[in-house]
Amino acid sequence: MCGIVGAIAGRDVVPVLVEGLKRLEYRGYDSAGIAVLDDGQVRRVRRTGRVAEMEAAAQAEGIHAQLGIGHTRWATHGGVTEANAHPHVSFGELAVVHNGIIENHDAQRDRLKALGYTFESQTDTEVIAHLVHHHQQQGHDLLAAVQAAAKELHGAYAIAVVSKREPGRMVGARMGCPLLVGLGEGENFLASDVSAIVQATRRVIFLEEGDTVDLTREGVRVFDASGALVTRDEHLSDVSLASLELGPYRHFMQKEIHEQPRAIADTIEQVIANNGFVPQLFGANAEAVLGDIEGVQILACGTSYYAGLTARYWIEAIAGVPCSVEIASEYRYRTVVANPKHLVVTISQSGETLDTMEALKYAKSLGHDKTLSICNVPESAIPRASALVYYTRAGAEIGVASTKAFTTQLVALFTLTCTLAKLRGRLAQAQEAAYLDDLRQLPGSVQHALNLEPQVQVWSERFAPKQHALFLGRGVHYPIALEGALKLKEISYIHAEAYPAGELKHGPLALVDTEMPVVVIAPNDSLLEKVKSNIQEVRARGGEMFVFADLDSHFGESEQVHVIRTPRHVGVLSPIVHSIPVQLLAYHAALARGTDVDKPRNLAKSVTVE
Ligand code: G6P
Repeated sequence: MCGIVGAIAGRDVVPVLVEGLKRLEYRGYDSAGIAVLDDGQVRRVRRTGRVAEMEAAAQAEGIHAQLGIGHTRWATHGGVTEANAHPHVSFGELAVVHNGIIENHDAQRDRLKALGYTFESQTDTEVIAHLVHHHQQQGHDLLAAVQAAAKELHGAYAIAVVSKREPGRMVGARMGCPLLVGLGEGENFLASDVSAIVQATRRVIFLEEGDTVDLTREGVRVFDASGALVTRDEHLSDVSLASLELGPYRHFMQKEIHEQPRAIADTIEQVIANNGFVPQLFGANAEAVLGDIEGVQILACGTSYYAGLTARYWIEAIAGVPCSVEIASEYRYRTVVANPKHLVVTISQSGETLDTMEALKYAKSLGHDKTLSICNVPESAIPRASALVYYTRAGAEIGVASTKAFTTQLVALFTLTCTLAKLRGRLAQAQEAAYLDDLRQLPGSVQHALNLEPQVQVWSERFAPKQHALFLGRGVHYPIALEGALKLKEISYIHAEAYPAGELKHGPLALVDTEMPVVVIAPNDSLLEKVKSNIQEVRARGGEMFVFADLDSHFGESEQVHVIRTPRHVGVLSPIVHSIPVQLLAYHAALARGTDVDKPRNLAKSVTVE
């Protein structure tokens, strides 16, 4: 979603801001803008559409400066217009960029109007600009004005502010949305995401809730919510520039699909190094937290939720622990009967999805102190709010449609399952060794599935003209059908639904005709014969089926039944291997339809608003 970058330097920062905004494009946005202090004046350029259009406009206007802020906006309050794009200014003196939502913006707007401020946009952000300006008018310097304004703002925000009254300074504030400082030599930076500044510096400070920060070229001072000067640890970011570059691929999604063998190998590295499923994989005090749990409650959104649904099958079957999985945005507003002996597991690629964060906070308020975050972004908000953490090591995921984050989440969840099983005395040594071996083989099996790409591509051409598609799976492969349908609709805009195959005749069968492609995930597991019967039900109604079956499934092909054979059955890890062909199908169908694969319309990578 929205992204922030700011820079103060002895050189022209406009290229730094533009480069930073380009690196934030992956988050999803619909307009972009920068504001700089040039010769004592605030100069601003904003455009709807791509950062490149805004960049061209900035070039045409000859904008150069040593201090500036930039933003990519994903519309929430007010439509996609230039007037609503950030930065927002007050009296041409002060400019603000903002991520998040100001909940009391209506009340503040009325108050500020009464004080004589006029509004040019429909955004909640403009309220911040005027509020800070108002506090400056009361005699505060920029830092004190931002701190005073922050006290009056309710909601979630990360902001960066510059003012022509203090041209050697940039101020930031964070509450509920990520904001970090980049430390350079004689130059400093602000960003909502490390990828925006990694080209300039790897030394970063993650701000905490309620922090404000004062940046000059020479130094950075951080203040906590009470206004006290504090020291925050400096980290060296290991985000690799290579993971932010496209390399030989056409799209980040394609690149990330192909990175899965490596991402999985990296994620299981610690398990293999330990030669077993030890609680310490989840944190130093994990044994105490995981030892006596009575159940698992998984909370997540989107693709991460489907990872959770898959894990439920493993956790109940292998560890013998009751497990529920719930969409975070539902859980957080529900009256929940909490059992503090249940482990709350949040799954989030970004670690900053607002609903997942709020669901975690709600769970903690109900007495859940056994919390585990499965996350791909070190030091992001959700792992920092959790007692335990398992970092997937997928590397930066840029494509909006999650791929390598999903399969590495599954690996992490399988590791959790085996660890819980072992702690409960349900994992015999021989079985543990067998599962470890399965994990070791997994990158190879995933690579084998990737090699099916040319066959999947042929299928995708038949999908491209369709309006609808149905995905079927059973048992642990049902969530993979859900994920396949989600991928297809996200990036190709073909309407797709997934059903447990046994549910077919309770409704979706009515949709089946010669125009409805039916994708079936049918590995050789205990439910294979049931799936085969379900397939007959589709066949009898003239439906055309596209079956992903492993080599052991023994499916016959016919005019109506097309089969792609995935690798030999890989046992419990089969859902991970079967994720690959459905990702490829969505990718190639989208390519054939000519959609913007990495930046599908209306969607964002990190959903930091409700
Ligand atoms: C958005 C993204 C999805 C992602 C979901 C949850 O909808 O487009 O790809 O699965 O958010 O994000 P998270 O970062 O919490 O896993």
